[in-house]
Amino acid sequence: MDLSGKTALVTGAASGIGTACARRYAEAGASVICTDVVDDAGQQVADEIGGRYRHLDVADSSAWTALAAEMADDPGHLHLAHLNAGIMMGLSDVAEMSDEDYHRIIGINQHGVVFGLRAAVPLLEAAGGGHVLITGSMASFSPLPVDLGYSMSKHAIAALVRSAAPNLAERDISLNAVCPATVGTGFLGGNRDRLEAAGMVIMDAEEVAEAAMAILDSGLTGECFALFKGRQPEPFQFATIPGADYRSRR
Ligand SMILES: NC(=O)c1ccc[n+]([C@@H]2O[C@H](COP(=O)([O-])OP(=O)(O)OC[C@H]3O[C@@H](n4cnc5c(N)ncnc54)[C@H](O)[C@@H]3O)[C@@H](O)[C@H]2O)c1
Repeated sequence: MDLSGKTALVTGAASGIGTACARRYAEAGASVICTDVVDDAGQQVADEIGGRYRHLDVADSSAWTALAAEMADDPGHLHLAHLNAGIMMGLSDVAEMSDEDYHRIIGINQHGVVFGLRAAVPLLEAAGGGHVLITGSMASFSPLPVDLGYSMSKHAIAALVRSAAPNLAERDISLNAVCPATVGTGFLGGNRDRLEAAGMVIMDAEEVAEAAMAILDSGLTGECFALFKGRQPEPFQFATIPGADYRSRR
């Protein structure tokens, strides 16, 4: 996809997948707005790719409102919003999950993408259409007992993408998720070598960035693309409910 003359917004752009995607969108010609809460690293990425940096805590609804208002006055039209920022928590015992833990992970991973989508849609619509890509995970499809909050929030991304896409399609806005298996980023906390030695297959963030471009080019919407190292992204086939379509029941 040629992004020349287009504006792309990336959350969590200061490291890992966000940085790789910001670089890839810039390579494709986009003017990239890099956002994060780690300002030094975020600014460095923006400087490297000739983009702009904005501090944005994705869990802060009012920060999204302010950014959207600012962008509405911007002559550059938003064409792509990549809602990528996310955290893991590593809590497996629900009895040990404090209110603060719960609100933090759901706030960033789930509310953050809803606020981001809500802010982006009017801007994309004003530009005559565009794309939203959300970074999901294998945990969007299957349980992850070692991290309950992560699992819940990444499942929610699949529900959001599949539920919101039909309405957005009528406004020429695509909405998809890229759902990678393990990626060698800060998420692994410096354990990449140990995990690879133990046989885990780990892909580079750049592979996710290439997959993001392929998804944007796919012409599809409402899909959660599973991504494994060395393979093309593939729409995950969700099971259907046996029997009649429950949506038509009264
Ligand atoms: N690394 C993996 O194995 C893996 C696999 C599947 C999905 N993912 C997803 O990829 C996304 C990016 O993660 P990554 O692997 O690049 O990890 P990462 O830790 O390198 O990057 C995450 C970025 O999000 C930023 N961030 C954290 N809280 C934020 C907030 N409140 N507001 C704005 N930014 C915030 C961090 O500062 C960081 O720059 C996440 O959504 C993650 O769930 C990662």
